[in-house]
Amino acid sequence: MANKQAILSAVDQIYDTLHYLAANGCRGFECSRQSLATLSRWSQSLSPLAEILEDIRFDLGDCQRCKLASSRKHIVFGEGYARAKLVFIGEGPGFEEDQRGQPFVGAAGQLLTKIIEAIKLTRDQVYICNVIKCRPPGNRDPEPDEIETCLPFLERQIRAIRPDFICTLGRISAQALLKINTPISRLRGRFHNYYGIKLLPTYHPAYLLRNPNKKRDVWNDMQMLMKEYRYED
Ligand code: URA
Repeated sequence: MANKQAILSAVDQIYDTLHYLAANGCRGFECSRQSLATLSRWSQSLSPLAEILEDIRFDLGDCQRCKLASSRKHIVFGEGYARAKLVFIGEGPGFEEDQRGQPFVGAAGQLLTKIIEAIKLTRDQVYICNVIKCRPPGNRDPEPDEIETCLPFLERQIRAIRPDFICTLGRISAQALLKINTPISRLRGRFHNYYGIKLLPTYHPAYLLRNPNKKRDVWNDMQMLMKEYRYED
């Protein structure tokens, strides 16, 4: 078993390195799509993806790691396709999400569903989750200690799914993953490199509900995403 873990870890490291080199235009190594696909298959056969997401959910358990545990109704882990090519990441559950245990099912979620459909995908084809898994009281912004406690679970989810693209929604998720404080207005509109994954920050759907004039910017971001997504098919 220890041997299997060591092989899996080596395969993962080779995959991540080649993926990173390929994403940065490196031509000095054999990092073609075929090689990446082979490595991805090896890794998956050593450790099926669905089990990894389930393991992460299992580890989270009835989480009491931060103060949000006392006021939440449900942990909102995330949902969608475990092998999605594209992952959407919001900040944290709101009222509806807390009630139902599912991400983005309230008013902002309905807008997100429309955005996903506008790029010719369905919610079942992508994965949707948040930086923090429990609702902050009164929908306040998550606090730094709450983000710090919950972020490792999101990082593990991303590693398990291994998407080609991440679309972060709003300031909190972009800043948490990229570990910077740049305002969302300056982060959006271009791809960032997140360990070889193309990460595109855009405005949060809840912000669009309050500022419909920003929908044009999000549509431009989505067109950029759609173009790259189709190119990688
Ligand atoms: N806003 C978020 O950031 N996430 C949700 O799941 C719902 C609303």
